Amino acid sequence: MTLLSVERIEAAYGPAQALFGVTLDVAPGEVLALLGRNGMGKSTTIKVICRLLTASTGKVSLDGQDMAGWPSHRAARAGIGLVPEGRRVFPPLTVEENLTAAARPGDWTLATVSDLFPRLGERLGQRAASLSGGEQQMLAIGRALMTNPRLLILDEATEGLAPVVRQEIWAAIRRLKAETGLAILVVDKSLKELATVADRAVIIEGGRSRWAGDFAELTPTLTERYLGV
Ligand SMILES: Nc1ncnc2c1ncn2[C@@H]1O[C@H](COP(=O)(O)OP(=O)(O)O)[C@@H](O)[C@H]1O
Ligand SMILES: [Mg+2]
Repeated sequence: MTLLSVERIEAAYGPAQALFGVTLDVAPGEVLALLGRNGMGKSTTIKVICRLLTASTGKVSLDGQDMAGWPSHRAARAGIGLVPEGRRVFPPLTVEENLTAAARPGDWTLATVSDLFPRLGERLGQRAASLSGGEQQMLAIGRALMTNPRLLILDEATEGLAPVVRQEIWAAIRRLKAETGLAILVVDKSLKELATVADRAVIIEGGRSRWAGDFAELTPTLTERYLGV
């Protein structure tokens, strides 16, 4: 049974159409990599999934339930945890306040998030503004986990971070995959790291799905053609 299903969605920013037919699905416990060059529609697809932008046509469903008309908080309540592009934390609030503001009942608590990201556990009383970029990104992931989602969406979560911090974040993602039944939709530039966690991949180009398959089936021809690597 599919957890998330996105069927041929189209979407626009005012008069500027950005998506022309994106299709993908995520099964429970599965890690799906959403790939494509800059500006191809990855974040826009994510906005539609999280109900931050409404598709003009097509369908998004969660557990087979059509999400049309849902406000974004209903998508969150139904189990979609988003780590958006950029580091969205509340700078004046402490680490603990950032985490508990988003909390809903479940296995993810201050204790389990602190275990996943010890740097956060050591800084619960510190203001988010005083954290490094990497720590803020960990906090953004921690906030999404505190909602106890069934699907975690990571939009370029390692972008612009120092290599050592990137490694900590990838290690956490690998742990999430190995130790929890969380489904993950991940956008990232590092195919090498994605290969260690992703079960399947979808490639989009110009706002359209172009290829879908097992991550292991991604050939150099495909990555060169669609990703320029
Ligand atoms: N807020 C916005 N207003 C207008 N156009 C946008 C906005 N955000 C993205 N776009 C456009 O939509 C297209 C897809 O962008 P995006 O989904 O952010 O791509 P990606 O995440 O793959 O880099 C691009 O042409 C981009 O310029
Ligand atoms: Mg993007």
